[in-house]
Formats: sequence, structure tokens, C-alpha cells
Amino acid sequence: MELPSENPNPNTVQDQLPQTSRDGVSSCGLSKNKLRKLRRHEQSLESRKFRRAKEREQRKNKGLKKRRGNDEKLAEIQKLKNALEVGCKVVIDCQYQNHMSTKERTRFAQQLRRVYSSNRAATSPLHLYLTSLSQDSELFKICCKQNDGFENYVLDITENSVLNSFEPSEVVYLTPDATDVISLDKGFEQDKIYVIGGLVDETTTKNLTHQFAQTKNVTCARLPIDVFFQATEKGTYKKVLTINQVVDIILEWHLTKDWVAAISKGLPERTGFQPKDPNTISSKVISGVNN
Ligand SMILES: C[S@@+](CC[C@H](N)C(=O)[O-])C[C@H]1O[C@@H](n2cnc3c(N)ncnc32)[C@H](O)[C@@H]1O
Repeated sequence: MELPSENPNPNTVQDQLPQTSRDGVSSCGLSKNKLRKLRRHEQSLESRKFRRAKEREQRKNKGLKKRRGNDEKLAEIQKLKNALEVGCKVVIDCQYQNHMSTKERTRFAQQLRRVYSSNRAATSPLHLYLTSLSQDSELFKICCKQNDGFENYVLDITENSVLNSFEPSEVVYLTPDATDVISLDKGFEQDKIYVIGGLVDETTTKNLTHQFAQTKNVTCARLPIDVFFQATEKGTYKKVLTINQVVDIILEWHLTKDWVAAISKGLPERTGFQPKDPNTISSKVISGVNN
């Protein structure tokens, strides 16, 4: 819509109003004062017209923006629903609730929000599962409290354990303590189920998920951080990542099929790692870690 000019055509006001003579009386008999008032009134009408048109335009733009926002939201929900059919299966195993303090459970819920938001924004979202999570658990309640609309998240929640929900032979338990690295050339495979320990441990309890996977004879694997990255001068050198960082890596790997790009997405700068020169990573190392 065309907005009227902010400075309305002066001719319209000036031309239509009669000129005043030297004695302050116009040809139509109006005094100077009356004429000034008339002009001011005309101008205020014009600027009101302008303001109204501007407001109408703003309302229209706001409506369009809102509609566009709603359309985007619907498209994201549709993408997530689609992922429940075709997405790579990633489980967050919530069996470790009793290993977490209330503060750690709250942080778990916050990480879950980041996981969901990364997945919602992804081009090809993952099929997310939360296993060993019953609706009457404290963890579930914290998740609802921390995350608006948690009950409507488009993901699968079950109180069954991960190994009761999936064929153990298809499961790959991701754990930072595994001796084996995930297959570098196959990456995250469509017919496997990748499990992340649903754990926030401020003082890391080493081997917790690794031990579980080993006692259940489940394949476990760590991320190839040390294959592609080296320590810089300063850093925490922590290779134990948070749940949302691991999910970000999986999502980026699906997008790029590039381990350096994927790990860079999830590895915080403070860890002090930088990508190795690709020429220094021999194919022997790569095939060695792939076993
Ligand atoms: C904060 S970590 C928990 C670490 C915990 N001490 C354990 O025993 O797994 C949360 C989860 O992220 C995944 N994870 C974190 N860093 C990883 C790495 N470097 N390689 C593979 N998985 C990792 C694991 O599934 C892990 O259970």
C-alpha cells in the first residue's frame, strides 16, 4: 500500500486557502488568526492520515510476520513427524536419574531443550527417543517445568528400558570411555540405534555408561575427537561432552558427512582442541580406529 507523503503536497493546503491582504483580512473575509488555525487544522488532518496509513501498514506487516512464523512452526512440526518415520534413531537413556542431584536433573532438562531445538531446526531431524522415563518420575516433572510444551514434544517417550525397546544387536552405546571409535566411514548408520547416556555429572563418574554397555554385551563407541583434533596450548581438553553437544555432532555429521565439521559443531572452544592437519592423519590411523 502506498503511504501518503509525510510532507503532503503544500499546494493542496496553500492553494485552497485564500491569501490575506496587508490589513490581515483574507479575500474571503477570514482574519489572519482564523486562517492560521485553518491551515494548522489541515496539516494535522494530513499528518493523522499519514499516521493511520503507517499504522495500517505496520499491522499488515506484523500479521504477515506472524503468519510466516506460524507456517514455519507447522513446517518444523511436520519435519519432526516425518523424522519419526525416517530419521536416524537416537535414544537418550534416562536410566541414570538416581545418579543425578536435583541441580543436575535441572541441567539435564535444559540440555534436553537444546537437543529439541537443534533437532527442530535441522534439515533432516533425528528420530529422538527418551527411554526409562516414566511420567510420574521427578525427572519428567522437572522436564515439564523447565521446558514449555514438553508434553507436546514430537519425540517418543517410554518407560521401558533401551534394551527392552530395541534389539540389543542394533544398539551402539555412545560412551566417552569406549576403546573403539565409531566407524569413520559409515558414521551414524540408518539401521542402528545410537544411545546417549541421559546423564549430567558435574564431577564425571567415569565408565558409568561404558560399564552398563559392557555388562549387557552391547557395542559401544566413542566419538573420534582425538582422531581429528589435537590439543592447543591452553584448554580443558575435556572429551566428555554434554548430551546436546553430542546431538549437535550427530546432526552436523548427517548434514555434511564431515567429521571435522561435525565435531567442531559440538566441541566447545574452551576445550582447547583444534583440527589436525589432514595430511598428518594417515589412512592407516583411520582404518586402524575403524577396525
Ligand atoms: C555428560 S556425558 C556422561 C558421561 C558419563 N560419565 C558416562 O559414563 O557416560 C553424557 C553422554 O554423552 C555421550 N558422550 C559424551 N561425550 C562423548 C564422547 N566423547 N564419545 C561418545 N559419547 C559421548 C555419552 O553417551 C554420555 O553418556
